Amino acid sequence: MNRRRRIYEGKAKILFEGPEPGTLVQYFKDDATAGNGAKHDVIDGKGVLNNRISEFIFSKLNGLGIPTHFIRRINMREQLIKEVEIIPLEIIVRNVAAGSLVKRLGLEPGTQLPRSIIEFCYKDDALNDPMVSEEHITAFGWATPQELDDIMSLAIRVNDFLSGLFMGVGIQLVDFKIEVGRLYEGDMMRIVLADEISPDNCRLWDIKTRNKLDKDRFREDLGGLVDAYREVAQRLGILVEAENALTTGPRLVQ
Ligand SMILES: Nc1ncnc2c1ncn2[C@@H]1O[C@H](COP(=O)(O)OP(=O)(O)OP(=O)(O)O)[C@@H](O)[C@H]1O
Ligand SMILES: [Mg+2]
Repeated sequence: MNRRRRIYEGKAKILFEGPEPGTLVQYFKDDATAGNGAKHDVIDGKGVLNNRISEFIFSKLNGLGIPTHFIRRINMREQLIKEVEIIPLEIIVRNVAAGSLVKRLGLEPGTQLPRSIIEFCYKDDALNDPMVSEEHITAFGWATPQELDDIMSLAIRVNDFLSGLFMGVGIQLVDFKIEVGRLYEGDMMRIVLADEISPDNCRLWDIKTRNKLDKDRFREDLGGLVDAYREVAQRLGILVEAENALTTGPRLVQ
């Protein structure tokens, strides 16, 4: 057997060449990073949980007609995806004040925002992913005005779906980050959701206890990251509680 060709290794995932042209295999690592890699740790079991949580969310989005790159999960750590041309933006949707918005505007963390706010950062590690406006995006040609419209409506649809999904299991969706790409099908091109949606790129607060169930546990040295991610998976019905209680590592429902 030949070794698969490694296309890209990032901080949290590895992309391998897929079995057919136009496909990739996305492998979820256990690495956790924050502050653009300034802080790094390996957290046993994180990749397995993110693979499952992201699979769950992307499958539901596909089912709702929201286009994504996701095809199917292959195993505990890998999923088959459609290769896209990534648009070099991080698209952040905020419902409640937290993180960099709190610092920038001096807001009280947890303040409900007057409406959902979309922000864009230019994906460039060397520049620390600076925040940019729609003007920069269209002027520098990172996306066309039409693409930007599609990206914003996609982001809003994802926010509406995710807010309801998490609300239903007692979790507040504070904010999240997505990536999108261009998918070419014949002579057609459309914008689809790419990368992952997991507690690594969402802020998720328990509605009753206000506990953080996301990567802020790592950023803020709160500990218990895998337990928090497992809690999210359990509430979404991805992990069965009784089964999970018997094991130390994540036990997955087949
Ligand atoms: N369907 C896709 N086709 C092509 N590339 C993709 C697709 N989905 C995600 N990617 C890219 O794969 C990489 C995933 O790796 P990872 O999330 O570990 O990267 P990272 O360290 O966060 O770095 P960065 O996101 O800045 O490139 C990202 O660069 C992401 O943009
Ligand atoms: Mg990433």
